Amino acid sequence: MDLKEHIRAVPDFPKPGILFYDISTLLMHAEAWQETVRRLTDEVAPYKPDMLVGIESRGFLTAAPLALEMGIGFFMVRKKGKLPGETLEYSYGLEYGSDTIEMQADAVTPGQRVIVLDDLLATGGTMDASIQLLRRAGAEVAAAACIIELTFLEGRSKVDVPVHTLVSYD
Ligand code: PRP
Ligand code: MG
Repeated sequence: MDLKEHIRAVPDFPKPGILFYDISTLLMHAEAWQETVRRLTDEVAPYKPDMLVGIESRGFLTAAPLALEMGIGFFMVRKKGKLPGETLEYSYGLEYGSDTIEMQADAVTPGQRVIVLDDLLATGGTMDASIQLLRRAGAEVAAAACIIELTFLEGRSKVDVPVHTLVSYD
């Protein structure tokens, strides 16, 4: 199955000149989504992770079914202020300004192996920040996996763990 047939490209979103790759149409197609989850499982299972991590918000959609399929737990990396209880945070620079992400402090025990999931790797900034936060919590980040990679943005070079993606655009 060609997953690209189920990924919609939307021109000029969220800004003029940007071509947005939308997984909504992939989610709407049961067989294509099942195939996506199976292929992601094949990519990440060899690392034998203890837990999966999903990055807000489309990374949640990617990580949660994978965790079920693999029979392991899953937790969230969220934008600041969304998670209850004790949290750990990490701030990182954007083109204009900065952003802060958080996770719950007790989500991992030191040394646990995690794999980080998101729908799409663009510049790699979001994935790198999530990895730094996870390390702050004592996690061992074994790999990162995304459905889509925009290869022309070279996000992979910013991420210092193996990166697995299913489809790429250049
Ligand atoms: C998109 C995408 C990734 C991130 C990739 O998220 O889902 O999380 O951007 O970009 P980067 O590699 O350049 O950091 P977005 O900020 O649109 O938020 P959403 O997932 O909540 O829709
Ligand atoms: Mg996102």
